[in-house]
Amino acid sequence: MHKQGAIARYRRKMADKQRRRSSESAEVETGLSLHHIDKAHVNHTLFEPSKAVRVESHVSSMEEYRRLYDQSISDPALFWSSIAKQFYWKEPWNDATVHSYNFDRRNGKIFVEWFKGGKTNVCYNVLDHQIKAKGSGDRVAFYWVGNDPAHSRSITYSELLVDVCKFANVLKAQGVKKGDRVAIYMPMVIELVVAMLACARIGAVHSIVFGGFSADSLANRMIDAKSAVLVTADGVYRGSKLIHLKEIADQAVEKCKAKEFSVRRCIVLQSLKKEEVKGEASPAKRRHIGLPWNDSIDVWWADVMETASDECEPEWLDAEDPLFMLYTSGSTGKPKGVLHTNGGYFVYAATTFKYSFDHQPNDVFWCTADIGWITGHTYITYGPMANSATSILFEGVPTYPQCDRFWTICEEYKVTKFYTAPTAIRTLMKFSDESVTKHDLSSLKAIGTVGEPINPEAWHWYYNVVGGKRCSVPDTYWQTETGGHVITPLPGATPMKAGSATLPFFGIQPVLVDKNGIEIEGEAEGYLCLKKPWPGIMRTVYGDHDRFESTYFDLFKGYYFTGDGAFRDRDGYYWITGRADDVINVSGHRIGTAEVESALVEHPSVVEAAVVGRPHEVKTESMYCFVTLKQGAVFDETVIKELKLKVREKIGPFATPDVVQNAPALPKTRSGKIMRRILRKVAQNDRNMGDVSTLADSSVVEELFTNRID
Ligand code: WTA
Repeated sequence: MHKQGAIARYRRKMADKQRRRSSESAEVETGLSLHHIDKAHVNHTLFEPSKAVRVESHVSSMEEYRRLYDQSISDPALFWSSIAKQFYWKEPWNDATVHSYNFDRRNGKIFVEWFKGGKTNVCYNVLDHQIKAKGSGDRVAFYWVGNDPAHSRSITYSELLVDVCKFANVLKAQGVKKGDRVAIYMPMVIELVVAMLACARIGAVHSIVFGGFSADSLANRMIDAKSAVLVTADGVYRGSKLIHLKEIADQAVEKCKAKEFSVRRCIVLQSLKKEEVKGEASPAKRRHIGLPWNDSIDVWWADVMETASDECEPEWLDAEDPLFMLYTSGSTGKPKGVLHTNGGYFVYAATTFKYSFDHQPNDVFWCTADIGWITGHTYITYGPMANSATSILFEGVPTYPQCDRFWTICEEYKVTKFYTAPTAIRTLMKFSDESVTKHDLSSLKAIGTVGEPINPEAWHWYYNVVGGKRCSVPDTYWQTETGGHVITPLPGATPMKAGSATLPFFGIQPVLVDKNGIEIEGEAEGYLCLKKPWPGIMRTVYGDHDRFESTYFDLFKGYYFTGDGAFRDRDGYYWITGRADDVINVSGHRIGTAEVESALVEHPSVVEAAVVGRPHEVKTESMYCFVTLKQGAVFDETVIKELKLKVREKIGPFATPDVVQNAPALPKTRSGKIMRRILRKVAQNDRNMGDVSTLADSSVVEELFTNRID
């Protein structure tokens, strides 16, 4: 017995070693590399949901979770169609084929379809249907809280419907039709929600570009999507900094023109308050004095809304017609337009919101993300509104005017469910606990996180200090591509472990595979893939279906590959170990290193560049760049400054490199492939480099260590 145990242990150890070896060498063949889990972080202590949360929750025990999960896996068509039926469908989908898919290319191209043939409208479902069927007309949809604490407003579902219909008519009057793409580059204001829902109402495809992106990024996205109509605003204060959105938008329009794409119309919201604008403030006057203005393109939001009708019959769309696209970074220099469709995305957003945050009728929900990212799409607009939720829409930043801004707002609005990113938590935990505890946060019940792995230390601080040891912590793992949460605890059911995203959501079958795409069972580390489609999965990369297939399905045949690595522990809990591809995560922002590299090589002195992430205690990763200069060029402070500026210009300020190091040569394989694994070690000052036998010239590495910057 004893001996058998020892043999089993030995076998496991050897298998483990074998697996580790295979994943370490994986970089050479697949271009992927796994970050190994720090076993010291894996603590199996379980944090049970508190009774107060459990008693009112939709799923209040693990037995119930398992029962629902099993149903969702054994009969996905029944599971998801019974949820979809709770919403409004003008015409039903074909019940015989609730969903169909082709993950393994057996029938040609890869595709996923849900509720095909069903006719619906997402805008109708989040407004008209909530008002008519659920009596939510007078319910507050959003409490808007300005960057300046003196600014706030609220809007009900009925009021929002009026504005959305008007703006939908504005878009129609500008010639926007079903299927047309509309670019939106706006601050976090209610009109941003109005603009996106107006698109959804008429079947136009919104393409929201985060307000922190540069003119170049905005232009490239407008050109790729052929968005001839742009919705923007004059400007916005983020903290004490004024961002001139309209000026950036103007530059983007010019850049489009230079590439022979003309933007037909730019609708400009006056978002800055009168007192924030110097001189005359009325739109009519400001058009001539304050803001640059092009009469042939620009119109004021207020002007065009004034005469618009507040009635607009929704366009009845097929469930598989596109709802929106959202660009995200990948491992090439060109961002991908991730495309989501109406039926599946909506049903999945509504369901994940309801269960992951255990939504209750009296909740005040607050997701601090920007709507410019997927988190804002799904958990500020579509998910909450599909549940008639009341949400906070916050324009500002966590530390302005003081470091307790989040907690002040939670106290004032009696927020019950709060959702933020680990990077914000790590920033705020640097201040005294008193900055949190002096506020009455007793209304909080669930406090979620998203965007990056949360380290146990930050998790404990969040759980103890913010959550007062009574709140559940949904650590929600998902992606722009997945549309909604795929691995997450449920507040009333799942015992939590600090730093683990825990267990799959309904309908999700996570698997870990090795570099050969073979599934690994039990406790293991591997590439995280998802088997079988769920309703919220993206349908294609806009304009490039081949790229959709090659990015997500070619590496591990028959699976959707997330790009992440993960560790599954003895209880089946998942611990995400981060991106295995060339994407880095800086403060929850996903940045493709290839995009940064292509910006760096635009500098006249640079011949080659390679960018890697280096672990950072607040930002998750910082951006560490290696550049090889042309012969004769001098590497000095001026070049470093210019290079940082170049990246800001090409991508946006949020992507500014932290370190730029001189690299007279880069470590390469004999076939000329840059060995990023080695560069990561240099950035971390870790000489434990593993197998370097494939390196063409090993002297390069020593030089890099000599030049490294802390
Ligand atoms: C990472 C954000 C660990 C992951 C919703 C993923 C996470 C990428 C978590 C997607 C989490 C997101 N734990 N890592 N809870 N949530 N990630 O598309 O690397 O901006 O692939 O979507 O963020 O980033 P995206």
